[in-house]
Amino acid sequence: MKSKITFLLFVIFIIAIHGQDDEKEWWRTATFYQIYPRSFMDTTGNGIGDLKGMIQRLDHLKDAGFDTFWLSPIFKSPQKDTGYDVSDYYTIEPDYGTMDDFKALIAKAKSLGIRVMLDFIPNHTSDEHEWFIKSCANESEFRDYYVWHDGQPNPEGGRPFLPNNWISVFGGPAWTWVESRQQYYLHQFLPGQPDLNYRSDNVVKAMSDMLIYYIDMGVAGFRLDAINHLFEDALFRNETQWNPEEEIENYDDLNHEHTKDLNETFLFVYSWRKMIDDYIVQKNISSDILVMTEAYASTSDTMRYYHDPTNPNVRGAHMPFNFQLIFNFQANAKSEDIQRGIFEWLNNMPEGETANWVAGSHDHSRVASRIMPEKIHMVNTVVLTLPGSSITYMGEEIGMHDNKDVPNWDNRNKNRTPMQWNGGVGAGFTTRNANETWLPIHPNYLTVNLQAETERPRSTYKYFQSLTALRKTNALRKGDFDFKIINEDVFGYTRNYNKEEGYLILINLSGSSHHLDLKAFDTFGKNKLRVVTAAPNSRFDVGDIVEKEHVTVGLYDAVVFDYVSSASSVVLSIALFFTTIFVYLFN
Ligand code: GLC
Repeated sequence: MKSKITFLLFVIFIIAIHGQDDEKEWWRTATFYQIYPRSFMDTTGNGIGDLKGMIQRLDHLKDAGFDTFWLSPIFKSPQKDTGYDVSDYYTIEPDYGTMDDFKALIAKAKSLGIRVMLDFIPNHTSDEHEWFIKSCANESEFRDYYVWHDGQPNPEGGRPFLPNNWISVFGGPAWTWVESRQQYYLHQFLPGQPDLNYRSDNVVKAMSDMLIYYIDMGVAGFRLDAINHLFEDALFRNETQWNPEEEIENYDDLNHEHTKDLNETFLFVYSWRKMIDDYIVQKNISSDILVMTEAYASTSDTMRYYHDPTNPNVRGAHMPFNFQLIFNFQANAKSEDIQRGIFEWLNNMPEGETANWVAGSHDHSRVASRIMPEKIHMVNTVVLTLPGSSITYMGEEIGMHDNKDVPNWDNRNKNRTPMQWNGGVGAGFTTRNANETWLPIHPNYLTVNLQAETERPRSTYKYFQSLTALRKTNALRKGDFDFKIINEDVFGYTRNYNKEEGYLILINLSGSSHHLDLKAFDTFGKNKLRVVTAAPNSRFDVGDIVEKEHVTVGLYDAVVFDYVSSASSVVLSIALFFTTIFVYLFN
C-alpha cells in the first residue's frame, strides 16, 4: 500500500514538474505571430494601424491558434525605416496611440492567454533621438554614445576622407559627416539610424534599463533586431573585398569580418540573457522572458547565439531566428532543397535547444508571391508541423500576396500592406477606401480576406486553423521527427510520440499527381492512413482512409494523416455507412 501511495505521489510530482516546465518554457512549442502595427487595424480612420485596433482584433489571434505575438516597433519614430529608427523608447509612436493603450493591449492579451513580445532595436537609434542630437553637439555626457571617427587625413585640406571602406546594409558608405563635431558617425543601416556605441557603459546601462522597464510592464520577451551588428572593430580596419578587382558598391561586395558577429556581440547577448534570467528569479516571474535574436549570419555564427559553444551554461537567445525556409523554399525547390533547409538547422543546432521555423516577415516578399500561391499551404504546413516553435507573419494565415502597386520608396513595402479582414470598404482595416491607406490594400482583398475564408468550407485560413489545433497534440509538441524524400517532388515526415500518437505529413511540390508507396514510414504497424486535415486544394477530404502502400497525392498537395489499422477502418466504414443511412432517413 505504502509503495502504491509513493508511486502515486511520484506520478503526481512528475506531472506537476512537467506542467511547470511547459509553463516556464512556453516558447519551446509556441505558435508565434508577427503583427506589423502600421497595417493591422486602424481605428482612427487615418489609414494607419494603431494599438486600439490591435486590441479590437486580438481575438483573431486566439481563433487562429496563436499563443504569442511579437510586434514590429511601436516606439516614437520619424519612420525613416518604418519604426526601426526609434527617437524615444519610452514613448509610443503617436500614430499608434499611447502607453496606456499599450498597457491595455497587454491586459487584453493576458485575458486571452496570449503573450506579448516587443521588437527592440539595440543597434541604433533615430538621428532624431535626443542622445544623438546631444552627441552631435558634443555634450560631454553623450559624447561617446555613438561611434564617431575623425576620418582619414585629406592631404589637400578640407573634409577628411571616409574612415574606411565600410558599406551600409542599405547601400552607400556606412559613414556620414557631421559639421558640428567635424567627425563622421557610423550607421550600418540608413544615415537616419546612427549606431550606438556598446563600449560605452552609459549606453549599456540605458539600453538594459529599457528591457527591465518593459519586463515590469508585463511583456513576455524581446526580438533583438539586427543584433549581429552591435559591435564593430575597435581599430576600424577595412573589410576584405570578395573581388578586390571590382569597385565596392554594394553591401555584399565585402566580407563583414569587422562589422558583424564579433566576439563581443556574442558576449553581450550572453550578458543580457543573464541579466534577464537573474531578474526573473529576483522578481519571482514564473515563465521565461524570451530572447529572440535576428541575425543574418552563417549557420555556425547563428548557432552561437543560442549559447557559448565552449560552455552551454552561458546562455544566449532562446530562439535565434531561423531563416532557412526563406532561403531554401523557393518556387522551384525540390524535396532535396527542403531537406537541406530543415537539416541545416537541425543538424547544427546545439543539444538541448529548440528549433524555430520562419517563412516570412516584413522584410521578405510574401510566400504566395515569393514562391507561388498554390504553395502557401505547404509552407504553412511545414512551419506548423516541424519540431519546435513556429513564427507566422501577419496575413500568411489567409495567404495574402505582395501588392506590387505600392509606391517604391522601400521595396519591402509591397509585403507590408494592410491586413485584409473582409471584403467591405477598406477591407475591414479602416473606414477609408482601400487605396487611401498608408500603403494601398491589395486589390485581391475582395476574395482573399479573413471573413470570406472563414465562411468558405475549405480555405487557406481554415486549413491554417486545423494545423494550429493539431499543434496542441503531444505528437506535434514532443514527437520525434523522421523525414524522407519520396521522390524529387514529394517528401514526407512522421511526428510520432511514444507509439501512441503519430502523424504523417505529406507534401507534393509539383503540379502533377504521384502514386506512392509509403511503407517506409513508421505508422505503428497500422497499414491505413486517415486524413486528419488537408490543404484546401487537396484531392483528399478529412476522414478519407487510404492504403499506406497505395497513396495518390494530388498536385501541390499538402496533407496530414494519422494511422488506422484495417480492423478499425472496417469499424469506421460501418459506422460511416450507418450514419449516412441515419442522416438520409431522418432528414
Ligand atoms: C532588421 C529589421 C529591418 C530593419 C533593420 C534595421 O533587419 O527587420 O526591417 O530595416 O533591422 O533596423
